[in-house]
Amino acid sequence: MVRASLDDVRRRVVGIDAEVTLLDGSKRPYINFDNASTTPCLGRVLERTAEFLRWYGSVGRGAGFKSDVSTTAMSDARASLASFVGADLAAHTVIFTKNTTEALNKLAHRFPFAAGDVVLCSLMEHHSNDLPWRAAAEVERIGIDRTGRLDLMHLERQLGKLGGRVRLVGVTGGSNVTGYINPIHDIAEMAHAAGAQVVVDAAQLAAHRTIQMGPAGGARSIDYLAFAGHKMYAPFGVGVLVGLKEAFLSYDFDMVGGGTVDLVTLNDTQWSGLPAREEAGSLNAVGIVALAEAAWCLQEIGLDRIAEHEAALTARFLRGLHEIDGIIVHGDDDPDRATERLGVVPFEVRGMPHQLVAAILAAEGGIGVRTGLFCSHPYMLEVMDYGTARVAGLKKELAAGVRAKLPGFTRVSFGLYNTELEVDALLDLLVRLASGRYAGEYTQDLASGAFHAKGHARGVEDAFALGR
Ligand code: ALA
Repeated sequence: MVRASLDDVRRRVVGIDAEVTLLDGSKRPYINFDNASTTPCLGRVLERTAEFLRWYGSVGRGAGFKSDVSTTAMSDARASLASFVGADLAAHTVIFTKNTTEALNKLAHRFPFAAGDVVLCSLMEHHSNDLPWRAAAEVERIGIDRTGRLDLMHLERQLGKLGGRVRLVGVTGGSNVTGYINPIHDIAEMAHAAGAQVVVDAAQLAAHRTIQMGPAGGARSIDYLAFAGHKMYAPFGVGVLVGLKEAFLSYDFDMVGGGTVDLVTLNDTQWSGLPAREEAGSLNAVGIVALAEAAWCLQEIGLDRIAEHEAALTARFLRGLHEIDGIIVHGDDDPDRATERLGVVPFEVRGMPHQLVAAILAAEGGIGVRTGLFCSHPYMLEVMDYGTARVAGLKKELAAGVRAKLPGFTRVSFGLYNTELEVDALLDLLVRLASGRYAGEYTQDLASGAFHAKGHARGVEDAFALGR
């Protein structure tokens, strides 16, 4: 098999040549360094999805040819996504949701917790692997060490202290803030030894590393896993929950309706088997096909190759940042360890609000990044050592509708299609920015916290407007 080069894949990324207007009026191809939030669509994913649309019909409900094609595509997608994460369909079920958040909420709702059960949740989590557990059970934490990494000794102590009450250990596969990759199989082994199961939020991991859940019930296997298409080059609104069937035995469903039942009378209901009874309403067949095609593409390109490429970009970026006075890198800043982490780099420019950094990068470089707290507030507050008094002050400001002083970092996150030239363009601009040599005059909107460059005719409406 001849593999496409990453350059070929990049050339076919949808919108890769889209130009934006800079502050000086010149145009430049947009540079997306916000892949931890959302990835663009791969060319092949769009093509295959368009091909599927020709044959698109009702899934599991019709008798015509297009219905059969669509229904078959759904079961093929389930099988291929199970294989993508090393799940075993005899013991695991693959449930489609709209995103990772919905997948984790579903598990939190469906998991058979009993009174007094504890979810041991890491402090590193994105809100989606934290808030749903607070609503479902008692939540205890796995802390982090001084470098912001997960403290596995604390996990061990917590498992010992909480006895057999821990039913579930919740960890992210990789941090959306620091890019740290967690040793999910070691964590699973520790959790299982203490009688608990493990749920991994793989939203950040799935497009960057091979995932093998392992045989159901295995000492080092992952019991539940969630991920989504919009961070895997298939932004069509699909998430996946893969997990042991045993969690979905009760009839206390989170959602009911069409597709979940075999027979309904006025007095009772005969529920369908898994996964149908967990997927109320019509499936997002187009999104599911796109996601399965994306998984196929990532495997074909090679996740090892992707990881190697992204690590090279990360190392180059970290080396460049070290050369710039006034830049503070958070988390691991060692370029030689770039292969051990995701290509997610948080940093600050000394004395400059993170929102201003982002505004200058956008207006003067056509570069998109994310800034702020990254929907991981407890982790960020800990990493920033943001004490209770300052949190109280922040709450007051937010209650008054002011987001201008929201603390945070600037985050750059790489995808398989980013290039060294793009990294160099970012570094060049950061050199100027950190020494105060930027061109624009920026004012901050107090309510949103965003900065805007005076006189910048961006042409947002010209780029895309509905109904034109
Ligand atoms: N969308 C979230 C982020 O940007 C997870 O980090």
